[in-house]
Amino acid sequence: MRKLLITGGAGFIGSHVVRRFVKQYPNDQIFNLDKLTYAGNLENLKDIDQSGNYHFIKGDITDTAFIQSLFETHQFDGVIHLAAESHVDRSISNPMEFVLTNVIGTVNLLNAARQIWKTAEGKRFYHVSTDEVYGQLGHEGKFVETTPYDPNSPYSASKASSDHFVRAYHHTYGLPVVISNCSNNYGSHHFPEKLIPLMINNILQKKPLPVYGKGENVRDWLFVEDHATAIDVIFHQGQLGDTYNIGGNNEWKNIDLVKHLCRLMDQKLNRAEGESEQLITYVTDRAGHDFRYAIDSSKLMSELHWKPSVTFEQGLEKTVDWYLANQEWLNHVTSGAYQQYYQNMYSNRS
Ligand code: NAD
Ligand code: DAU
Repeated sequence: MRKLLITGGAGFIGSHVVRRFVKQYPNDQIFNLDKLTYAGNLENLKDIDQSGNYHFIKGDITDTAFIQSLFETHQFDGVIHLAAESHVDRSISNPMEFVLTNVIGTVNLLNAARQIWKTAEGKRFYHVSTDEVYGQLGHEGKFVETTPYDPNSPYSASKASSDHFVRAYHHTYGLPVVISNCSNNYGSHHFPEKLIPLMINNILQKKPLPVYGKGENVRDWLFVEDHATAIDVIFHQGQLGDTYNIGGNNEWKNIDLVKHLCRLMDQKLNRAEGESEQLITYVTDRAGHDFRYAIDSSKLMSELHWKPSVTFEQGLEKTVDWYLANQEWLNHVTSGAYQQYYQNMYSNRS
């Protein structure tokens, strides 16, 4: 029996990872540590929270004493670290929150693991990171694992810093680490501050669809359940000290993606063709907006034999169907503080 700590398990990707590990590894004890910020929501796990091998711990990774005592008490065998401040726009308004959680929080976890792990045998610290650490691409090329770090936003700078600490703890102290850098995820339980769920929510509400700049920026989209599978494979089979890029080979210009979503939702909602597209509104661009991301995941595919399980069309349809069937979830997470966030973020953009 192993004891595995998953941080940020009440968030979007974390909840898919927790669900997968709880179901896939019934002999392991899975501990979900989450502060339950605006982005964390225990409803995301209500289908598995009665499982005998699942345990929730509310706590903050920036609290050094708490993290140390947690590791001493539970003597975890492995850590999968996803807890983070994850939204680029919020990092532009409030960078310090990102330094605290993403940098200090990560170093706290590394220190605690280092203190309890007397040998590397059977132990693993997996740091989940982003392709944004590589900076932006022009029209050509893809990020590979050896692409130099060149982060542009406060969010990506904080994630790059945390990646460097993880690598440094491997190099200096021999901590058994592995890192992955993934492209944009989409799927169920995605907080509606990010492009796809925000557009789904606004289409439902017949509210304007705010496209930054000319909508020509490109993102490379991966279905979240395929990310969770990749994390499982890398956690168990990845080479210690190595980095793996994860992506779906699925690039979309923002404006094309938003129009595609409008068409799909018009069909699902029995609206007239073209109705939702009329809601598209071009708004002031994000400061320092990275032009294009694209991931080359051939190392992961050839060395660890991972591949995505769904096409983008299948994944997007599953996603839209989930939001349509879970409008209560959407109403719940968009009530209260979200209204103020939306007002602050979008009122002076147009
Ligand atoms: P999210 O914002 O949906 O969830 C983050 C979770 O971390 C929340 O449950 C939140 O409550 C928790 N958290 C935040 N601060 C905490 C703290 N101080 N202590 C404990 N818990 C805290 O994020 P996500 O989109 O699921 O991303 C998860 C991870 O994956 C992040 O590290 C992110 O950088 C990385 N990532 C995300 C994407 C993406 O497209 N969303 C792509 C690549 C990598
Ligand atoms: O690449 C991986 C990263 O993807 C993750 O590390 C981040 O945690 C995740 O948030 C995501 O970052 P992006 O900034 O790419 O995602 P976001 O959904 O915020 O924006 C996607 C694109 O859509 C981006 O070019 C900005 C644009 N956009 C976004 C919003 C919220 C709009 O045009 N309008 C919007 O309202």
